[in-house]
Amino acid sequence: MTAPLKNSGPITVEVALGDRSYDILIGRDILSSLGERVAALRPGARVAIVTDEYVATYWLRKTDASLKGAGIATSHIVVDEGEASKSYEGIEFVCEELIKAKIERNDLVVALGGGVVGDLAGFAAAIVRRGIDFVQVPTSLLAQVDSSVGGKTGINSPQGKNLVGAFHQPILVVADTAVLDTLSPRQFRAGYAEVAKYGVLGDEAFFTWLEANHADVVKGGAAREHAVATSCRAKAAIVARDERETGERALLNLGHTFGHALETATGFSDRLYHGEGVSIGMVLAAELSAQLGMLTDADVSRIQRHLAAVGLPTRLQDIAGFKQEGLPDADGLMTLMAQDKKVKRGRFTFILLQAVGQAVVSSDVDPLAVRNFLARKLAQ
Ligand code: GLY
Repeated sequence: MTAPLKNSGPITVEVALGDRSYDILIGRDILSSLGERVAALRPGARVAIVTDEYVATYWLRKTDASLKGAGIATSHIVVDEGEASKSYEGIEFVCEELIKAKIERNDLVVALGGGVVGDLAGFAAAIVRRGIDFVQVPTSLLAQVDSSVGGKTGINSPQGKNLVGAFHQPILVVADTAVLDTLSPRQFRAGYAEVAKYGVLGDEAFFTWLEANHADVVKGGAAREHAVATSCRAKAAIVARDERETGERALLNLGHTFGHALETATGFSDRLYHGEGVSIGMVLAAELSAQLGMLTDADVSRIQRHLAAVGLPTRLQDIAGFKQEGLPDADGLMTLMAQDKKVKRGRFTFILLQAVGQAVVSSDVDPLAVRNFLARKLAQ
């Protein structure tokens, strides 16, 4: 699957989960069709649009007009932009606003935004009135290829990322690739790390295609749609086989055990976006795999080279303020990693690599080897 698809109407990717199956629609300028699609799926439902202040300035009016144009009554819930909204206060606010807006069980929540809004609105939809259906309208590349698909919703605990949440699948995902034109280059690149992840973890041909076409993915057009659709197809296939992450779905966490620890260490601040943490985390996972004798140095370099060519950070030293503010030492990072959901009975579960396109779940990595590996990486 290496040739870009033609630009002719939305691409549909099905997430096959029996009676909870849903479609992901990917295409340029498809946001205006949201209303008719929602009306067809849930005739008569009212919609609460949950979004953040930043996304609202660009896309709320268009989203609202599309829904109203299809005869749907809407209300708006606008949260602060940024990870801080994925908090107990944030979820309380959204739940109370949904109740105030009299959203009932047969109504709908539309999550209009990036990963924060999707996780927060999805979690509110999972728990208000014991569950309301919701639609994801992802507006960041990261959300289009990862967080809007697969039903993971939730908030952060002061003790770690995504520690409180629920699996709650959307009934539809509408990914308008034109919306990505307004992202800052840095935000786009951060999302791209999750695109590259699908190549690294399971599709060497896609990785090769990305090496040749990443500049066109940034520009937009058919290459971008192909990259988003290929990523969604990969994720949909894994989620359909392992919705609750009892096995294979853990592969999607490639780069995330290191990445989450780095995000926590930098206070979820502008020093490091999620996708940037994943980029550094993927390279660390590749280097650890090489140290354990599983991956060749050539493959490590290939992964690092591609991410760097896109403009992503690939080393701990690339994190903003590394020299001035530093990072926790190896023991500190190990403590942060131990909070992650990827730890079971004290043993780390790492996603390691045997080749580009061949990731494996390893649930028995020696913590001392990881600690010493991190100490070396911090000292480089
Ligand atoms: N972002 C990883 C997953 O959805 O499983």
